Amino acid sequence: MRSLKLSVKDLLSAGKPGEEVSIKGWVRTKRGNKQINFVALNDGSTINNIQIVIDVPNFNDDTIQKITTGAALHVKGKLVESKGQQNIELVAEEVEVMGECNPETYPIQPKKHSLEFLRENAHLRFRTNLFGAIFRVRNAMSFAIHKYFNENDFNYLHTPLITASDAEGAGEMFRVTTLDMKNPPLTEEGKIDYSEDFFGKSTNLTVSGQLEGELGAMALGKIYTFGPTFRAENSNTTRHLAEFWMVEPEMAFYDINDNMDLAEDFIKYTIKYALENCMDDLKFLSQRLTDEEKNKKADEKSMELIEKLNFVLNEDFARITYTEAYDILRNCKPNKKKKFKYLVNEWGVDFQSEHERYLVEKHFKKPVIITDYPKEIKSFYMKLNDDNKTVAAMDVLFPGIGEIIGGSQREESLEKLLGRMEEIGVPKEEMDWYLDTRRYGSATHSGFGLGFERLILFITGMGNIRDVIPFPRTPKNALY
Ligand code: 4AD
Ligand code: MG
Repeated sequence: MRSLKLSVKDLLSAGKPGEEVSIKGWVRTKRGNKQINFVALNDGSTINNIQIVIDVPNFNDDTIQKITTGAALHVKGKLVESKGQQNIELVAEEVEVMGECNPETYPIQPKKHSLEFLRENAHLRFRTNLFGAIFRVRNAMSFAIHKYFNENDFNYLHTPLITASDAEGAGEMFRVTTLDMKNPPLTEEGKIDYSEDFFGKSTNLTVSGQLEGELGAMALGKIYTFGPTFRAENSNTTRHLAEFWMVEPEMAFYDINDNMDLAEDFIKYTIKYALENCMDDLKFLSQRLTDEEKNKKADEKSMELIEKLNFVLNEDFARITYTEAYDILRNCKPNKKKKFKYLVNEWGVDFQSEHERYLVEKHFKKPVIITDYPKEIKSFYMKLNDDNKTVAAMDVLFPGIGEIIGGSQREESLEKLLGRMEEIGVPKEEMDWYLDTRRYGSATHSGFGLGFERLILFITGMGNIRDVIPFPRTPKNALY
């Protein structure tokens, strides 16, 4: 007999007819009659189930009754060849029901549930084929990210989650405090006295690890962060979370072009990794998407999932400046016919997701990198271009997603950086540590941030960001 810890994945890939095995898992479905039962057993190791064949008269009634969807089973028996979906099935000799699952009250029935229903039961949705596939892909993508950076000599740097600075300067931060909210200490001017707070100053959850990441890059050369990020923006969209995971590489001696090359190579590597390692789950996800869209008109349907992943892998991303993008958008049909919610008619406007998606899905029909944005709509740390109007920013836009990466070459001149901070009103005193990178051995450097959940949306073909993170945090929702 082989080890007790065999997984269903092991059995399906390497089990041989005639072998005696022992396996544990949960019942997905049971069908059959008074003589014979077929149980589809799944343990989460793969989207595929192992079929358990139960010769009913050999088992007591009580056991058979308790084999219901969701119940945890321990089955011992012999592998035999199968004519079903898998090559192999297990003829049960012993069945122990480890945990019963009352079919009257169990919310996850062996039928299709809506994504909304599963979101409301997010603690149980892991048990569906769909969420099993999504979270295995998410796991594989985390691993691929670490693998990529490790293979390319990046150092994984842990930047703080609690910080006193607002990296993006957008003021969308969650405060961290231990002060008594009913009775906070006050300064003479009647303001809250944060010098009495836990850290002796006002602190918040980080919106980005970039600024600390730059400190690392200016010594270790190439670093990346990969951790949770928090934004208190009240955007109830299918693309925003209040707590999301961001990957932020930062590289000394990289200019904006090196930065774009890295972003494109990195993202393609993760997609290739998914195609090479997650095919069973991707096939399932592809079928889901096809079913989901079967009632859509031909021109509204998205490309088949696996074809789409291969397509992105094989295309060079388009690279254009903000000004070029602006010209395309200003002159495009939906803008002229006022089909856009926000019209593009003044250089300097920030692009909305409808514009980004037009560029990617309709105009270029492939991923697009936009560079050189007007300085007014980007962060203080981005390198000012010689025109004094634009900065060396880059956004990578993806089909169906919009912005998946945001990054830039950083302003390396102390003088110019101070000028920008002054203009925008970023407090200098608080940021002295950051300015030291420009005071001592300053050099060209660049980096970007990839929204991890947006990458998972793209790879799984899911449409709502709440469905690709195990426990979504969004406005008015922090269950679990
Ligand atoms: O464009 P952002 O705000 O860039 C930064 O934070 C830089 N400090 C990154 C850097 O240069 N190191 O965010 C980066 C990416 C976005 O492109 C998007 O994919 C994702 O993070 N993102 C979000 N994902 C989910 N929910 C949100 N609320 C997000 N906000 C940004
Ligand atoms: Mg951005």
